[in-house]
Amino acid sequence: MKQSDRVTRIPKSAIHEMTRLSKHYDDVAFLSWAKPTSGTPEHINNAAISAIKEGLTGGYSQSDGLPALREEIVKKLKRDNNIDASTNELIVTVGAIEGLAAAVLATIDPGDEVILPTPTYSTHIRQVELASGKPVLAPLIEEENFALDIQAVKKSITSKTKAIMYCSPNNPTGTVFPEEQLRQLANIALEHDLTIITDEAYEYFVFDDNRHFSVASIPGMEKHVISTYTFTKTYAMTGWRVGYIHADETIIDQIKKAHIPLAICAPVVSQYAAVAALYGSQECVAEFRRHYLSARNLMCERLDRLNHVFDYVKPGGSYLMFPKILLDEGRDSVAFCKKLLKNIQVSTTPGIAFGFTGERHLRLSFCVSEEMINKAFDRMEKYFK
Ligand SMILES: Cc1ncc(COP(=O)(O)O)c(C=O)c1O
Repeated sequence: MKQSDRVTRIPKSAIHEMTRLSKHYDDVAFLSWAKPTSGTPEHINNAAISAIKEGLTGGYSQSDGLPALREEIVKKLKRDNNIDASTNELIVTVGAIEGLAAAVLATIDPGDEVILPTPTYSTHIRQVELASGKPVLAPLIEEENFALDIQAVKKSITSKTKAIMYCSPNNPTGTVFPEEQLRQLANIALEHDLTIITDEAYEYFVFDDNRHFSVASIPGMEKHVISTYTFTKTYAMTGWRVGYIHADETIIDQIKKAHIPLAICAPVVSQYAAVAALYGSQECVAEFRRHYLSARNLMCERLDRLNHVFDYVKPGGSYLMFPKILLDEGRDSVAFCKKLLKNIQVSTTPGIAFGFTGERHLRLSFCVSEEMINKAFDRMEKYFK
């Protein structure tokens, strides 16, 4: 069968590849998946069950989402992101991912360039490639806690640059880009007439004195930012596939033209669950945050005991970290991860999956039980003795 060059060129997902390989082993200690392992809170499940029983979920919703959900999102954006939105500046999407894909399609033409501070979530890179764009990777500064390199971003700009796309808190490094740096990025976007596409999936999981900041809250950025959010991480709703996108109405109208052929609308049952998530108590989010914070601290303590093998930056957010492999064999992160899996059944993700600047690193997820973290590190301590 004939296949498009565009898709053929895309490498297999290293994350899914590690999951596939892990199936060949018993009793694997899993640190490779960035998905919440806690269940969706009960009141959210119950709202979905009620909606089904009331016969509300069998058809499509408006393509931009249930009005009641968009109204709750408007309140949330005001309360937590300092963004004044209206319901017609929103599209409810199939997770953040579909929203991001639609945003990229609506922003770039074939051959256009998108600057991605890396390491970054590999899906963003793939989305640019799928739109026949060119991902331009601008390295983060590892020595400064994986800070944004504003000069590197500036240097990457050409006449073809259309957008800058980033996630903060960052996957895979866990860095929370500070407000001051994001303001600098916003100025670059204004100066060069670029669009900033944000992925704020981990917005609620920030620790210590870090603060999440949304560039769309900066006055004057209305025509330059597309922001994406999700219920996946905040409410442990991975499988429900519901998120949303915010932008100025003129931009949203364009993105909708991409959203409809990609999805028609987000799953309706999930939209009812999402209304309950926003409307109900937010204590579940605080509880997840407390759990991730203590899991992060445990993982850092365990990494300290392996300081002849790994060097690391303490992540300020998300539930991911990105230690550097100090051993010679770390030069090939794929081979290193495969070796860990084969010899001690510890599943991790190779850093190269997050752009070339990720080589020599591993991504570890602490969105797991403390028991799982201890199991993986007990094995690594014994192995690297
Ligand atoms: C940065 C980031 N964005 C988005 C997603 C997925 O979001 P969703 O499930 O809402 O599509 C992930 C999942 O790992 C992620 O790490």
